Amino acid sequence: MNKPGLLLVGAGGHALSCIDVIELENRFRIVGLLGLQSEKGSQRLGYPVIGTDEDLPELASTYGHAVVTMGQIKTPALRIAMFQRLLELGFVLPTIVAPTAQVSLHATVGDGTIVMHGAIINAGASIGDNCIINCRALVEHGARMGSHCHLATGAIVNGDASVGEGSFIGSGTVVREGIRIGKHCLVGMGQMVRTDCADGGRLPAGKGIK
Ligand SMILES: CC(C)(COP(=O)(O)OP(=O)(O)OC[C@H]1O[C@@H](n2cnc3c(N)ncnc32)[C@H](O)[C@@H]1OP(=O)(O)O)[C@@H](O)C(=O)NCCC(=O)NCCS
Repeated sequence: MNKPGLLLVGAGGHALSCIDVIELENRFRIVGLLGLQSEKGSQRLGYPVIGTDEDLPELASTYGHAVVTMGQIKTPALRIAMFQRLLELGFVLPTIVAPTAQVSLHATVGDGTIVMHGAIINAGASIGDNCIINCRALVEHGARMGSHCHLATGAIVNGDASVGEGSFIGSGTVVREGIRIGKHCLVGMGQMVRTDCADGGRLPAGKGIK
């Protein structure tokens, strides 16, 4: 089968996890990664870093599919800007789901979102575009996550809770059912979220987290 070529934008640690999922999903042929100028010419798990984002306009005429493989913790700004740039250049940003993940037939997952190993997205849940649903994360029934969110490894968003666009939910955090987390929130690892969090909120609060 002639698989479509896929360009990976971002060559850091998260890109390695993405490569693993994309290889196992077996729908795309990874054509290379884009990274920093200093990373050009190096390899990631056998795939070449073929350029930087400055090469995107030229690459857009050759490759139709791309995915943002930069990580996201303190701010979603870089991932949002890159997602929008790729769309403007005419790339298709596919949804990528690890064969080891479980995504309900009654859930929706947006463009450019990657669902990593062992994650579960349950019935009635909805996930926006350009999200990372990381390894062993759980989005329970009816929960909603806006675009450009990162649900880190092992985090749980319980039933009917919602997470606004651009938010980060740290590793092992549990969000109680029905809780509303606003846009661009930063919830650190290991939190038990029992109350709503306003847009731009930080948890734990008052800990000097920048
Ligand atoms: C929230 C986070 C981004 C803050 O990072 P930071 O701005 O560099 O902050 P620091 O690590 O310097 O910590 C600042 C203070 O907040 C505390 N703190 C940081 N994260 C905390 C957390 N999750 N829970 C409780 N306290 C936390 C620190 O102990 C420190 O307290 P102190 O000032 O009393 O010593 C980081 O701690 C975190 O949780 N990162 C996410 C990790 C993760 O989930 N990775 C998975 C990726 S898949």
